[in-house]
Amino acid sequence: MKFFLDTASLQEIREGVAWGIVDGVTTNPSLVAKEGVDFHSRIKEICELVPDVSAEVTATNYEGMIQEGRILAKLHNHVTVKIPLISEGIKACKTLSQERIKVNVTLCFSVSQALLAAKAGATYVSPFVGRLDDISEDGMELVANIFQVYRNYGYKTQILAASLRHPQHVVQAALIGADVATMPFKVMEMLFKHPLTDIGLKKFLEDWENSKKNTKR
Ligand code: G3P
Repeated sequence: MKFFLDTASLQEIREGVAWGIVDGVTTNPSLVAKEGVDFHSRIKEICELVPDVSAEVTATNYEGMIQEGRILAKLHNHVTVKIPLISEGIKACKTLSQERIKVNVTLCFSVSQALLAAKAGATYVSPFVGRLDDISEDGMELVANIFQVYRNYGYKTQILAASLRHPQHVVQAALIGADVATMPFKVMEMLFKHPLTDIGLKKFLEDWENSKKNTKR
């Protein structure tokens, strides 16, 4: 399973990369806006840190998405163009994919939408798990159903589980077989944590110190 960080913060990305477990980064207009930096410069900076960086178009018509997508793809060969799952986006996904530009179709909330992304040759489809949970639907069931449908037909589009809010989301996505989990930095940090690890380590170190005191020279 690939782990992506869902952030535009260089500090967070550098820390995650130092852990040796980050395979890529996803951004969106909200995350870049939060950083208050130039969009293209920040995408290029992130591309120097990780091999796969989703950068989203802001146009909502086909021509605009194609134009923005080509510009984003030229910024760096680590860029994956992120396109919203609307009819113009699916059309743009098909064109850009035929040009061998990697496309991440985002804002996916149904299996029918995920089928469209696969048919249009998307590299990734991003089902938004947390946002479905927010409206009392089952986000993870969507991931499982997309996985089943893609397997039925051998689609190559990778499932990028997004809008993950806590470690159990990551575990559930992994149990289903999602190809990628993208998560905020704080969720990645939480993956490390277990109280029994801390208690166990404390005890090992106490025993070690005591044994040094008690060892006869
Ligand atoms: O990866 C998609 C993500 O940025 C959306 O997450 O928590 O705003 O639903 P969230």
